[in-house]
Amino acid sequence: MKAVVMREFGGPEVLKYEDVATPEVGPGDVLVEVRAVSVNRTLDLIVRENKYVRRPALPHILGVDPSGVIVAVGANVTDRKVGDRVYCSVFIPTDDPSAHLTLPGLGKVNFLGVSTWGGYAQFVKVPARTVVSIPSSVAFHDATVIGRHLATATNQVEGICQIQRGQRLLVMGASGGLGSAAIQVAKWNGAEVVAAAGTDERVAAAIRVGADHGINYRTQDLTAEVMRITGGKGVDAVCENVADPDLFRKALYSMTHGATMATAGNASGNIEVPLDIRRLYLYQLRIVGEPREQPGGLAEAFQKAGDGGVKTIIDKVFPLSRAAEGHQRVAGREGVGKVILDPTLDDRGSKS
Ligand SMILES: NC(=O)c1ccc[n+]([C@@H]2O[C@H](COP(=O)([O-])OP(=O)(O)OC[C@H]3O[C@@H](n4cnc5c(N)ncnc54)[C@H](OP(=O)(O)O)[C@@H]3O)[C@@H](O)[C@H]2O)c1
Repeated sequence: MKAVVMREFGGPEVLKYEDVATPEVGPGDVLVEVRAVSVNRTLDLIVRENKYVRRPALPHILGVDPSGVIVAVGANVTDRKVGDRVYCSVFIPTDDPSAHLTLPGLGKVNFLGVSTWGGYAQFVKVPARTVVSIPSSVAFHDATVIGRHLATATNQVEGICQIQRGQRLLVMGASGGLGSAAIQVAKWNGAEVVAAAGTDERVAAAIRVGADHGINYRTQDLTAEVMRITGGKGVDAVCENVADPDLFRKALYSMTHGATMATAGNASGNIEVPLDIRRLYLYQLRIVGEPREQPGGLAEAFQKAGDGGVKTIIDKVFPLSRAAEGHQRVAGREGVGKVILDPTLDDRGSKS
């Protein structure tokens, strides 16, 4: 099969489009013909640079969120068949004692595309129990974005923030994968959503997926704007996955008494932010770290998508053979929304 293989860590140039052996399916596996996979900043670019907390063995194939069609099933697989349209979860059950994440129902997990070969390939092999069905009405490109972000965003908004009808949610990095999904989840729950992002185009994209208010936090004062929008009260919850030190502080000062901040990431790359402890206890604020999804969250996300209720923000689609360009585009932060790789496109981007 064709695949984007990494034989060393480094810049986008280490991603080589090559022929490798198609994986053999084990008894509990399925082989999926990949139709879409996305380029993620942390789990693709940071892993490629060998700056992630886990280091994949080389040679390696990236790709944490492939969608596609099952072309082979293992001898013990009874609930999946050739032809099924599926999304492959990033979470792969493991008995590796060094795995740092545990999921209810799956136990310890490693990440597809980090600890095992991922979806930057024509085919990917995954355990059958980690795939979920994609409704026929949902295109593969959208499925990859929905599968990657919606269940985690749902857990942040409903599970951690427990957002209620009429409450106000501030979403940071609002046009990002997690942010744009969180906006939609909050709207389904009847919340008023304040979307905050770093350019006017990104704010506009967040409004298009449903946010009620927009703030450009690079040109406007985030806290002052939130207070203006909320009549001086502040927001009941914040989804904060950016970890920009200055913006984190301003987001904290945008929270009302008893408010909750959910965090699953640090898209800015910073791992330290200032924390006003006095504000934290006087306002009885909660800051909860939770990068996981609820059991069944992925299946629910695709049910919602099948009902036609989910919007995605896709910046650009590249042929798999031009994965390095996709990485450059994400690194340069040029576009708005997700970058997708599609193995069915030829070098010029036409259907092959
Ligand atoms: N399923 C999930 O999505 C999931 C699960 C677990 C953890 N996470 C983590 O959550 C974080 C957000 O994920 P995501 O997929 O939503 O990321 P994303 O699509 O890249 O969006 C993140 C947003 O962060 C903002 N940002 C601010 N400073 C930045 C900088 N220096 N570099 C890049 N972005 C910057 C950008 O918005 P502006 O330019 O508008 O500021 C960008 O839209 C990541 O750390 C990720 O690893 C995600």
